[in-house]
Amino acid sequence: MRTPRLSLCLAAASLLSLTGLALPQIASAEPQAAESVDGLLATADVTAGAKTGKACQTCHSVDKGGATRIGPNLWNIVNRPVGSVAGFHYSTAFKKVTAKTWSYHELNEWLYAPSAEAPGTTMSFAGVKKTQDRANVIAWLRTLSDSPAPLPKAK
Ligand code: HEC
Repeated sequence: MRTPRLSLCLAAASLLSLTGLALPQIASAEPQAAESVDGLLATADVTAGAKTGKACQTCHSVDKGGATRIGPNLWNIVNRPVGSVAGFHYSTAFKKVTAKTWSYHELNEWLYAPSAEAPGTTMSFAGVKKTQDRANVIAWLRTLSDSPAPLPKAK
């Protein structure tokens, strides 16, 4: 039988180990760089991506020839030249995006943290932090095209 003192000790110990577990998680909750989604795109959940993508549509139209809203239209976004929607006034901050085209890799980085990629960007959106969620959203973006871009080659 445990003495009360012993169970108190055990409780304290498990509390400590709990905090011990929790601390590194807090520290690593937001890695600096976006984890690659290349390996996930082929099996990603497009329906789930479309759901997450509803948030994008507060600011972006996603249909072919869709109008500019707060942000530029996203039709054909995969492999589209960066900042290329005629008539959309990209911010000065957006020039910090040095990529030429929205490859899967670049979209992954942008959607992870737009304001890290281009501090001051007018895309006020925190980002999609979970790698699987980003894979789903990017798999959905890929479908916004008459001829969806090929998936990344398996490594
Ligand atoms: C609060 C409004 C808002 C939301 C929400 C938002 N965006 Fe944006 N987005 C913008 C604006 C504004 C820009 C232009 C940024 C600039 O000029 O600094 C932009 C730019 C972009 C670009 C670059 C387009 C180009 O023509 O080069 C992509 C890609 C993009 N957004 C994707 C997304 C996706 C995908 C989502 C959802 C996961 C999303 N955005 C959510 C407002 C938003």
